[in-house]
Amino acid sequence: MRPLLPRRQSRSAGSLHEVDSVPALRPISASIFSTWRRPAVPSIGMPELISPNTQLRDSWLAARDEWGRETHQDGAGLNVGDDVDTAAGFAAWVERLRLQSDPSTLLEESRVYANYWWIVDNDEYLGAICLRGTLNNFLLRAGGNIGYGIRPSARRRGLAKWALRAVLPEARALGLGRVLVVCEDANIASARTIESNGGVLEDVPLTELGRTRRYWIAL
Ligand SMILES: CC(C)(COP(=O)(O)OP(=O)(O)OC[C@H]1O[C@@H](n2cnc3c(N)ncnc32)[C@H](O)[C@@H]1OP(=O)(O)O)[C@@H](O)C(=O)NCCC(=O)NCCS
Repeated sequence: MRPLLPRRQSRSAGSLHEVDSVPALRPISASIFSTWRRPAVPSIGMPELISPNTQLRDSWLAARDEWGRETHQDGAGLNVGDDVDTAAGFAAWVERLRLQSDPSTLLEESRVYANYWWIVDNDEYLGAICLRGTLNNFLLRAGGNIGYGIRPSARRRGLAKWALRAVLPEARALGLGRVLVVCEDANIASARTIESNGGVLEDVPLTELGRTRRYWIAL
């Protein structure tokens, strides 16, 4: 097992907005599906980004039930038909996420390599964020490089803003100079999340996902 990186400061030392001093992250090329944990930003809680894993299945399932069984969870990498209700199915899904980050994996033509993290606090699953290093036609139009979702009970605590900001150095480490982050035109919370992280609105086209706000964040 890889040793954990040291945690930063105490919980009382700052807020979710204080992310500028987060230490440099290791390159994305190294396996992110190890036991490594990103040092967290002290806040009302101690959020961390960790690799998807089977240990937090109960907490993940509780979050899934908050979203609703049929609801799409942005940034989670969950497909219709994924059998997360059985231990074996859950493990298979986690493994698929791991493989999707591995450049040696042969992906379907419609898929791109992606890295997934779970946003957790004290081993409670709070949400997910993913980073796609390349943009196919669909992603350029309507999907973007980064997707995220926060479980309903953990929203409005600054987690999405924190997680997006925490992943930007990972995108830079991939060699990207900017990332495309999109949201539905009516999704005020996501638009604010993006704008708070320096997103500059490019346009608001009508896409297959509806009216879509397309932002670029320079890295
Ligand atoms: C969008 C989402 C990720 C925001 O997560 P969050 O952790 O609640 O967001 P934060 O607490 O970091 O808040 C980010 C900003 O949105 C604002 N915000 C959050 N929820 C809001 C709401 N319901 N209405 C208006 N503004 C809201 C916050 O005030 C903050 O803006 P500010 O910095 O100007 O104050 C979350 O609502 C979610 O998971 N929604 C469903 C999935 C989704 O839409 N994902 C994004 C796909 S593009």
